[in-house]
Amino acid sequence: MKAVICTKYGAPEVLVIKNVEKPQPKDNEILIAVKATTVNSGDVRIRGLIVEGFLRIIMRLVLGITKPRKPILGTIVAGIVEKVGKNVTSFSPGDEVCGSTGFSFGAYAEYAVIHEQSTIIHKPTTANFEESAAILFGGMTAHYFLHKAGISTKKNQKILIYGATGSVGIAAVEIAKYYDAHITAMCSEKGVDLVTQRGADAIVLYTQKDIQDLQGQYDCIFDAVGKITKKQCKHLLKQKGVFYSVGGLEVAKETKEQLLFLKKLYDMSYIRANIDKIFTFDDIVQAHHYVDTGRKKGNVVVKVSNEEVNIISKNVAEVKI
Ligand SMILES: NC(=O)c1ccc[n+]([C@@H]2O[C@H](COP(=O)([O-])OP(=O)(O)OC[C@H]3O[C@@H](n4cnc5c(N)ncnc54)[C@H](OP(=O)(O)O)[C@@H]3O)[C@@H](O)[C@H]2O)c1
Repeated sequence: MKAVICTKYGAPEVLVIKNVEKPQPKDNEILIAVKATTVNSGDVRIRGLIVEGFLRIIMRLVLGITKPRKPILGTIVAGIVEKVGKNVTSFSPGDEVCGSTGFSFGAYAEYAVIHEQSTIIHKPTTANFEESAAILFGGMTAHYFLHKAGISTKKNQKILIYGATGSVGIAAVEIAKYYDAHITAMCSEKGVDLVTQRGADAIVLYTQKDIQDLQGQYDCIFDAVGKITKKQCKHLLKQKGVFYSVGGLEVAKETKEQLLFLKKLYDMSYIRANIDKIFTFDDIVQAHHYVDTGRKKGNVVVKVSNEEVNIISKNVAEVKI
């Protein structure tokens, strides 16, 4: 199969497409013919080892000293189940699925394997593969931090979302809207249309106003781009108000429940795929350059055009679709 190999840490050109052996599912795993993946901020951070100070050493120890130990990067998959391990009960060959391989990576490939109990679900029926892939990364992160902040516990909260136009930020706007929050979105002029469409009640341009100069009282301030500190906005928090940021050391946990929640909200039209650009698999280097700019709006998707899928049932002979 074709896969994108990360040959070392560095600029997007370290990514090279090669032919590698197709993975095979273990007893509890499913083999997915990947139709779409995404390039997100996490992917480019790992590829470029873009972290500061001592964290670079930790990242090398965790991921690989000179290059990623798992050379096929990418975490988000949307595709068709081609084959299932003998103990798999919740998926069958032919099922259309989406999910995250998490720290197992391996999504930048024509085929990926994932444990059936892991972060994988049947994709929304009304979403195509590109859309199904797009709703996951930012959605899971926003879900994690907003639920920690207690978004589901109280109606009509006042929330300020800083950096509301990235994949995490725009998903946070959508999820907060679902919980009837009053949303103030901070973004640049280029993001105004997007945050307005997705439900922001008020907009502050960070290009014109510093957060330190804002006035108001919020139940929650969520920094979705990791660019501000609690100290800068403490005066904006109500007495029991909370501040969360994607920029700290806390890594958002990914769960199947989050995926089911996002699917539900997609079906209810609360969340949208918010696709900025779609690249072909062969243009993965360009996709990484684009995400490296830190200016994408929502999500960047990569179409993986694998050959026709061989649906291999556990008991039935091979069927081609
Ligand atoms: N802790 C975790 O578990 C976790 C999980 C996921 C992501 N993250 C981190 O979260 C951050 C955001 O991720 P993402 O995927 O949403 O990123 P992204 O999509 O690449 O974010 C790009 C967006 O950020 C906006 N932006 C850039 N600089 C800004 C600034 N100074 N103020 C406000 N907005 C700004 C850009 O809008 P303009 O160009 O219009 O300014 C653009 O729309 C990344 O640093 C990522 O590493 C952390």
